[in-house]
Amino acid sequence: MTDTKKSIHGEWSSRFAFILAATGSAVGLGNIWKFPYITGENGGGAFVIIYLLCVAVIGIPIMIAEIMMGRRGRQCPINTLETLTEEAGANKNWHSLGWLGVIAGFLILSYYSVIAGWAMAYVVKAFTGSFSGEGAAQIKTLFSDLQASPGQQIFWHTTFMFATMSVVAPGVQGGLEKAVRFLMPGLFVLLMLLVAYAMTTGAYMQGLAFLFKPDFSEITGDSVLTAMGHAFFTLSLGMGAIMVYGSYLPKDISIAKTSILIACADTLVALLAGIAIFPIVFAYGLEASAGPGLIFQTLPIAFGNMTGGWLFGVLFFVLLVFAAISSAISLIEPAVAWVVENYNVDRKKASIYMGLATWFLGLGTVFSESFFEKIDYLTANLMLPLGGLCIALFAGRVMLQKHTQAELALDNETEYAVWKFLVSYIAPAAVFLVFLHVLGVFG
Ligand code: PHE
Repeated sequence: MTDTKKSIHGEWSSRFAFILAATGSAVGLGNIWKFPYITGENGGGAFVIIYLLCVAVIGIPIMIAEIMMGRRGRQCPINTLETLTEEAGANKNWHSLGWLGVIAGFLILSYYSVIAGWAMAYVVKAFTGSFSGEGAAQIKTLFSDLQASPGQQIFWHTTFMFATMSVVAPGVQGGLEKAVRFLMPGLFVLLMLLVAYAMTTGAYMQGLAFLFKPDFSEITGDSVLTAMGHAFFTLSLGMGAIMVYGSYLPKDISIAKTSILIACADTLVALLAGIAIFPIVFAYGLEASAGPGLIFQTLPIAFGNMTGGWLFGVLFFVLLVFAAISSAISLIEPAVAWVVENYNVDRKKASIYMGLATWFLGLGTVFSESFFEKIDYLTANLMLPLGGLCIALFAGRVMLQKHTQAELALDNETEYAVWKFLVSYIAPAAVFLVFLHVLGVFG
């Protein structure tokens, strides 16, 4: 393999384009929908600290590893792993890592699309003034009505899958890049607006205390697993999404700096969402542990009670839908790239097949909450950390040092040594210990 190898799917037009796309993948429902509700279910501050630690110690080194592997392999994760395994003269079993990722992405997208569909339904609700002047009880009913209507959910789930696949089909620069340009700044501005509203609720300090004042007695083995799993989920790690984006990355871009930047932006968005939501939760006497409906039962109260709220509500949910699309495209990209590379099928057809399969599986989430819970647990808490563990070991201990060094091109020896140590020892050990802990090995 030569160092000048390019991806057959094209390349990002610039470093900025890659940052936008990777941030687009990272920032999504995970930050705005999932982070607040799992924080609420796991008791707040202590959970947040564990999650932040996981992002820093496990997430960032693995993100660097994943992007690096993608750029070196220049293909979909499955084929990249084959190439890199061969290059390193390693055991063929490493190939299965690519498969694990493709399957995880497909499973995640199936429910992701249903939840994004809820956000789409809320665009319409905001537009028609359903939130205006309503109290917590009515807003809750709006949400349970949607839950009770499979027809509506299927309609929006279908619309979302359709939108996602029409971005995936045109390919890297045509679709993926254009879609993410305006999103991040817009989302950021609206989150700030919601934070400003949260300040007026009278429970702002209580919300902040819930988020940032740790009470470790709230933490169980399972909450540690959830925090770690979420670090993978929110950074799009452990399943090849960031790897496949890395494979479209031009040669001369610093992977390490870019990764840190993406992780910081992602974390900031999640924390802002938490800061906006929990004051509303406490001010209106809602349950922090309300589960997956949390943002749908809190944010509309804010929109319903501020001037111009219907407009901000529409904008917010529109942006949330776009943030979800820019994540969804990366969930399915490894599978689509794999079909294109291995079978004589064009991107358009590959997108249609994959989209249909995902859509079908999504019906499970529409009809059963426990189906969603099982898939979520399996993917975010088990498959992504396991994938991440293997990626760390592969990058740190299987790939030849001269290759990883050349690919990362860090000017400073110490930086490389730190990354190598984290990825070869600390990150795998941390994931492994959390798994053992959950299995009850420590009693
Ligand atoms: N990171 C995305 C989010 O937070 C979800 C995602 C997970 C995307 C895994 C790609 C891969 O919403």
